[in-house]
Amino acid sequence: MGYQQEYQQSLQDKEGFWKTQSNELAWYKKPTQILTDADHGTHRWFADGELNTCFLALDHQVESGRGEQVALYYDSPATNSKKAITYNQLLEDVQHFAGVLKAQGIEKGDRVVIYMPMVPEAAVAMLACARLGAVHSVVFGGFAPNELAIRINDAEPKLVITASCGIEFDKVIEYKPLVDQAFDLATHKPSGCIVLQRPMAKAELQAGRDIDWFEAHEGVEPADCVPVLSTDPLYILYTSGTTGMPKGIVRDNGSHAVALLYALRNVYGMKAGDVWWGASDIGWVVGHSFIVYGPLMGGCSAVFYEGKPVRSPDAGAFWRVISEYGVNSMFAAPTAFRAIRKEDSEGALSKGYNLSSLRWLFVAGEKLDSSTYSWLSELLEVPIIDHWWQTETGWPMTASLMGVEPVETRLGSTCVPVPGFDIQVVDGDGNELKDGEHGNIVARLPMPPGVAQTIWNNPERFQQSYLTAFPGYYHTGDGGFKDQDGYVYITGRTDDVINVSGHRLSTGEMEEVIAKNVNVAECAVIAVADQLKGHIPVGLVVLKEGANIEEAALEKDLVNLVRSEVGAVACFRNAIVVQRLPKTRSGKILRGILRKIADKEEYNMPSTIDDVSILSEITETISNAGVGR
Ligand code: COA
Ligand code: AMP
Repeated sequence: MGYQQEYQQSLQDKEGFWKTQSNELAWYKKPTQILTDADHGTHRWFADGELNTCFLALDHQVESGRGEQVALYYDSPATNSKKAITYNQLLEDVQHFAGVLKAQGIEKGDRVVIYMPMVPEAAVAMLACARLGAVHSVVFGGFAPNELAIRINDAEPKLVITASCGIEFDKVIEYKPLVDQAFDLATHKPSGCIVLQRPMAKAELQAGRDIDWFEAHEGVEPADCVPVLSTDPLYILYTSGTTGMPKGIVRDNGSHAVALLYALRNVYGMKAGDVWWGASDIGWVVGHSFIVYGPLMGGCSAVFYEGKPVRSPDAGAFWRVISEYGVNSMFAAPTAFRAIRKEDSEGALSKGYNLSSLRWLFVAGEKLDSSTYSWLSELLEVPIIDHWWQTETGWPMTASLMGVEPVETRLGSTCVPVPGFDIQVVDGDGNELKDGEHGNIVARLPMPPGVAQTIWNNPERFQQSYLTAFPGYYHTGDGGFKDQDGYVYITGRTDDVINVSGHRLSTGEMEEVIAKNVNVAECAVIAVADQLKGHIPVGLVVLKEGANIEEAALEKDLVNLVRSEVGAVACFRNAIVVQRLPKTRSGKILRGILRKIADKEEYNMPSTIDDVSILSEITETISNAGVGR
């Protein structure tokens, strides 16, 4: 079947299409209900099906004869170590750690927060939670204690699992003091904390609360899989919204498994036994879908990389990994390749490696600029596929289907809609626009399996964030257009979310933090183009009447504030004092125009602004400050 036929079938006979896909899973109880309506305008897939995600990822693979195949290639230039972990070994480790969790009182439905670097034990922890039907919530290591505490308060975990440290290039970042601070800050108090001691740093354990990872295994029986309903939650993953409170995106078990297996095989074109590499971090959705669950459920061998694209030890690290493990396909953010290109513009470091195993390369997470695309195409001589998705969807919405029928890629486009996603472009009133017209990118409801249907503890926020702006559609928050052949072009977010190094952050959240400074009357954080990171956040700050502080000192204070409250990952390094901010007559800051000014792009003079001279004032101030590209 070709792409068009597959796509049309997925929209015309949704239930039939996904029922067929669901037959690919080893359910404990096959679903008889395929698609049903739920509260708040949402839907459920496979509601009466029963399964266990860990069983699909491990036990089922071993039962299918893949026990001796490598499940994870742990490769860590950060610690100069490597380990090939077979499905048999991984299953054994997960059975035992699930036993540990059970001994700590973890049961189906309980939450467990995981704050760990890219060590295989992090994948073991995720899978062990899934084995017991417990709900994990992984928090990215670059977030500050305050962010961890916010997530602990919302998810109310019984346990936190962490490691003594992570490694960022040559820096050892001690995680345990950050976790201790988060425990102090949080109003919800988890009953325990399991700590993986790594040789690079020894964490102090608090008697009565903290437990050593290895000691916790003593005398513990391995635990078996607990059957869960398809609609039971597998994980919560917090992602940036427009306010200081991140959204706890909830992923179910059954529809997630169906969607990931479909995507792995049909979008990424991977078969059991193939070698796959998702070059991201378990703290992001890519890490959940395509470092851990997807490749394992599809019987692949997955690279689990603890390192960076550059200085690991050099900018040839990615090429070494591809050649060493015979990677057949991989995912990475464009930033990673911009970083490599910056250090090795001719790609000379790739020449010593055999890259012939690589069939194609997928990029996403931020806009793929044309020069990075051309550089990669020429260097690797394989298809470079820009594709588009989000934490909420859990798998790609637009791509080229390498396992069905690849489409020709088009510069600037993230390719064509993936089966199940009815992508449309609408104006502010929800009217569908013509080809080439720019607007809000939406998807007609119901969304296919795998897409989140709620926010943890807050179904109303889910409805209000995604379903109310354009009734009948899911609101992606991205702007763009479609061409005459249905190719989708993403031009950027239409809200206060920005992508820095492919990491999703909220400018609204940074504004809330900056506003805490006593000298600040008001501020706007905008995304400014950056050659390496895609965008970086820059604060435009109006001082309070009578504030007596040097601009450099204020900038330092604000940078430290954002670093300690949000985390180093925010990359907030510039704050500029301005006399006033451009606003509409109703007092709304004109962020879109500010961004265009910062990016030196043209803009139409808004009719809603009282005093246009403010715009030239701001242009001059930003230009004098010399931020961005
Ligand atoms: N734990 C602790 N700190 C972390 C961290 C983690 N997991 N990840 C990032 N940080 C810190 C960094 O150490 C850095 O701190 P610093 O300000 O003290 O130097 C800060 O957060 C910013 O990190 P980053 O934006 O990653 O910049 P960098 O200069 O350290 O690295 C790149 C630049 C391009 C090499 C790196 O951003 C990269 O590999 N990008 C690809 C990202 C990616 O894969 N995204 C995919 C998401 S789907
Ligand atoms: P996240 O939820 O962290 O995966 O971030 C999702 C957001 O990243 C999307 O809503 C887009 O704004 C952006 N994004 C993801 N993939 C692409 C892409 N291929 N091109 C442009 N932007 C992208």
